[in-house]
Amino acid sequence: MEYRHVPVMLDEVIEYLKPSEGEYFIDCTLGGAGYTKSIAKLLGKEGRILSFDLDPWAIENAKRILKEEKLENVIIENINFKNIYETAEKNFKKNNKKEFDKGIFSGIVFDLGLSNAQLEDTKRGFSFKEDTPLDMALEGDNGRTLDLINNYSREELETYLREYGEEKFYKRIVGGIFDARKTGSIETTKQLVDIIEAAVPAFYKRQKIHFATKTFQALRIATNEELESLKIALPDSLRLLKKGGRIAVISYHSLEDRIVKKIFKSESIDCHCPSSFPVCQCGHKASIKIINKKILLPTEEEVARNPKSRSAKMRVAEKI
Ligand SMILES: C[S@@+](CC[C@H](N)C(=O)[O-])C[C@H]1O[C@@H](n2cnc3c(N)ncnc32)[C@H](O)[C@@H]1O
Repeated sequence: MEYRHVPVMLDEVIEYLKPSEGEYFIDCTLGGAGYTKSIAKLLGKEGRILSFDLDPWAIENAKRILKEEKLENVIIENINFKNIYETAEKNFKKNNKKEFDKGIFSGIVFDLGLSNAQLEDTKRGFSFKEDTPLDMALEGDNGRTLDLINNYSREELETYLREYGEEKFYKRIVGGIFDARKTGSIETTKQLVDIIEAAVPAFYKRQKIHFATKTFQALRIATNEELESLKIALPDSLRLLKKGGRIAVISYHSLEDRIVKKIFKSESIDCHCPSSFPVCQCGHKASIKIINKKILLPTEEEVARNPKSRSAKMRVAEKI
């Protein structure tokens, strides 16, 4: 079934990245091709957009959408965006030998997390609405979710639930997981939901947000090493931008936003030496300037139209 994602903050992405004829762009999170489609149209025949997704299902879905649009300037790669540099090099260096190392991309965009289609697909392990094998890997089963649930230490699981899930009942839930481990391995989403249900207090189960949401989010982020990938991809993206080129990152989780903020800040200042050093010894030079000092949020109209956009936060920086 074809799925059309409603792109979040698309107008702002276009306004801040200003794609124009003949430029090269990268969309690190192709998803339902919302951004890629709009950007590709503005880049024209001579321009190119290189678009990634780690999920083979998302890739096939996006290919169908882009084919209908007859867009021939899109290059699609089924990869983790942490491999942005080598993938860009593979696709662009041959025809841009001299310029590549100085940066040839005019815009790079990240729209982090998962699409609703992925989160709500009851055949996959991201959803707790049906009983499915516990597999939250975007690229398809790699056994990592099962490994986390059944083999990781109490401390590690508590940290994931507390930090990635912001789950206040993390201790009780991990306690429940450890009790269940004594009688065999935890293999399905239903087993996990039952453990969480038994562990959390009654009032928590009456709240609007489902009591398993935060635990599932935490395990998904840990399974896919989502934060680690971002930490690798951002500095490499900055290297790929040409002077005046811009990067926009849309995040939905405070930990992701913190990583973006920290890397942008660190790359926008000249020296990283402690303030007690009388002269700079590190020699670091700023490579970007931050475009929006105040974080960009979706408009009220967008949130009313698409409530899923309400937690989006966008940061933009420009290569100098
Ligand atoms: C919110 S959706 C993007 C929607 C897209 N902007 C659009 O307009 O349709 C995020 C997409 O990024 C993909 N993704 C998440 N982490 C990834 C990673 N590390 N590498 C590549 N793709 C990733 C997900 O599979 C998902 O399809």
